[in-house]
Amino acid sequence: MLTDVTAFAPATVANVGIGFDILGHAVDEVGDRVRIRRIEENEVRIRSITGVAGELPVEPQANTAGRAVQAMHATLSPGFGFELDIEKGIPLGSGMGGSAASAVAAVVAANALLHAPAAQLQLLKFAMEGEIVASGSAHIDNIAPCLYGGLTLTVGIDNPRVKQIPVPRGLRCVLVHPHMYLGTREARAILNINVSRSDYVWQSANLAGFISGCYSNDLELIRDSFNDVIIEPQRHSLIPGFKDVQRAAMSAGALGCSISGAGPAVFAWSAIQHAEAVRGAMVAAFARHDLQSDSWVSLMQNYGARVVKA
Ligand code: HSE
Repeated sequence: MLTDVTAFAPATVANVGIGFDILGHAVDEVGDRVRIRRIEENEVRIRSITGVAGELPVEPQANTAGRAVQAMHATLSPGFGFELDIEKGIPLGSGMGGSAASAVAAVVAANALLHAPAAQLQLLKFAMEGEIVASGSAHIDNIAPCLYGGLTLTVGIDNPRVKQIPVPRGLRCVLVHPHMYLGTREARAILNINVSRSDYVWQSANLAGFISGCYSNDLELIRDSFNDVIIEPQRHSLIPGFKDVQRAAMSAGALGCSISGAGPAVFAWSAIQHAEAVRGAMVAAFARHDLQSDSWVSLMQNYGARVVKA
């Protein structure tokens, strides 16, 4: 019986541009780690939060990882408690799924301490409770790829279904995080609640085209569909230099480039041979707007959250 487990959960690009709140993929190069110890007291508590955390609440009910494990503890009644050490590798307010990663790493670690581990779909629902604390609404576009790995489409919230979508082998994601904070709540609050019929049709076609392109290895279809006509136009002005960064990525050979989640991180998909040039072009474009950045080139066929130490 394990008593002390550490799990890693990756960053995520979610949404992936055209799939607002439903399409995301993992970026395994960066993530959060949560260590959980089994304790005799029948409670959930947070012992420490370290890394690139900024100010995060240590009260479990107000913390995304704490709340997720509380939901798990209340439902499964394991007869013992959990003590969490959270190590943040994903900056707060980055658009890289930091709150989801902490919640997912926490439930994956806690699960490994149980006599009868819960199924992945149940873990998804526990982690969702944590995400609600962070963003104020239930969406699982980050949680699903973070937990399952790869590119995922999620359908439904109360009874979520997760579909893993194949990504053409020669593609990479370039993810660039400019050093600034953007709150998900704020980036959601500015969105118009109405959508015009023509935008609805255009966006639906692009989402369908993008997913079909992934299944059929059709890079041209992916490129032509990689165009979020609804959310990106409303949000891009929150990110200084976004249009220049996007242009730079496309000139360097990207298939498409958009906002990662609620931003300010920006991502591009490109063929492997152009990925480093795309990365350099995006970083340089942000620098022209006085923003330093971190960047990663990632495979999209990757693993989701996992136990790394037991
Ligand atoms: N998809 C969300 C948004 C962010 O774009 O507001 C994270 O789930």
